[in-house]
Amino acid sequence: MGYTLTILGCGVMGQALLSAIYNAPAASGENKDLYPSKIITCNHNEESKGQVVTLLEGYKASPNGIEVECTFDDNERAVNEASVVLLATKPFLAQQVLSSVNAKTKLLISLVAGWTIEQLGEHSEYVTRIMTNTPAKFGYGMAVLSHSSSVSDHNKELVKELVGHVGSCIELPEKNMDAATALVGSGPAFVLLMLESLMESGIKMGIPLKESRECAVKVLEGTAKMVEKTGEHPSVLKHQVCTPGGTTIAGLCVMEEKGVRSGIISGVEEAAAVASRLGKK
Ligand SMILES: NC(=O)c1ccc[n+]([C@@H]2O[C@H](COP(=O)([O-])OP(=O)(O)OC[C@H]3O[C@@H](n4cnc5c(N)ncnc54)[C@H](OP(=O)(O)O)[C@@H]3O)[C@@H](O)[C@H]2O)c1
Repeated sequence: MGYTLTILGCGVMGQALLSAIYNAPAASGENKDLYPSKIITCNHNEESKGQVVTLLEGYKASPNGIEVECTFDDNERAVNEASVVLLATKPFLAQQVLSSVNAKTKLLISLVAGWTIEQLGEHSEYVTRIMTNTPAKFGYGMAVLSHSSSVSDHNKELVKELVGHVGSCIELPEKNMDAATALVGSGPAFVLLMLESLMESGIKMGIPLKESRECAVKVLEGTAKMVEKTGEHPSVLKHQVCTPGGTTIAGLCVMEEKGVRSGIISGVEEAAAVASRLGKK
């Protein structure tokens, strides 16, 4: 008999994790035990619960036979029934939501930006912090996780197995979490700014919107795949595109002059600084 996983706050990220876990391919052997037999989703409003119901109506049966119960305004019972609790409310609501339930003996997996393992430790002995991002909704997400020292090896395996379905997943020390919040959590917005700029450059020079969009998307996707597949440092690949006296080096020099690189680095650092203050509010 499997366990129950309760998702406290089933909005954008809660639904991304719900989709990834619910639709995960059928597990075999010992891995079967790592999957919940039931997921309870919790929202505050009935309308938001309805959105989760609609999401699930679009899916076939879970390959791992997971049943889902969607609820609103029923956090206390939902947490009591669970052995694993996934917290995915906005940071400013986390204190209020956690104080109204008893998760002391549960594995508490938190997606909440800025909330430290120490803070979460007031509400559960067993805490895992995760930072992931919106591409997780489509299986192309990245997740960074940190465990408190009391999390058992079995539960570490469980988290890795479940969260791995968002895309990719790595473990880092908690001291890196604010940086991961900026790089991974906010990262899609930064990349979208780059994508939008490339698109607009095409439009400015006369390429229609649809074609500019397709070119920009494929350039970003293809370049990321090339870095992943070759394992080369980006600067090596970048210089392979730079013909002496050619177009690419000319464009790169102007971008460096405009401070594109330092602007990106400073922007990500600023996001990390804001993340570090979130849990203190
Ligand atoms: N969005 C991102 O790109 C991103 C990236 C990385 C990390 N995160 C982290 O993920 C967390 C969730 O962010 P999000 O973007 O998914 O927020 P969201 O879409 O607003 O989802 C939060 C959910 O919490 C629910 N909720 C509010 N009060 C509740 C209560 N008392 N009991 C149960 N549920 C309640 C809301 O439901 P109602 O509508 O019913 O109130 C809502 O569905 C945040 O802590 C954020 O730091 C987000």
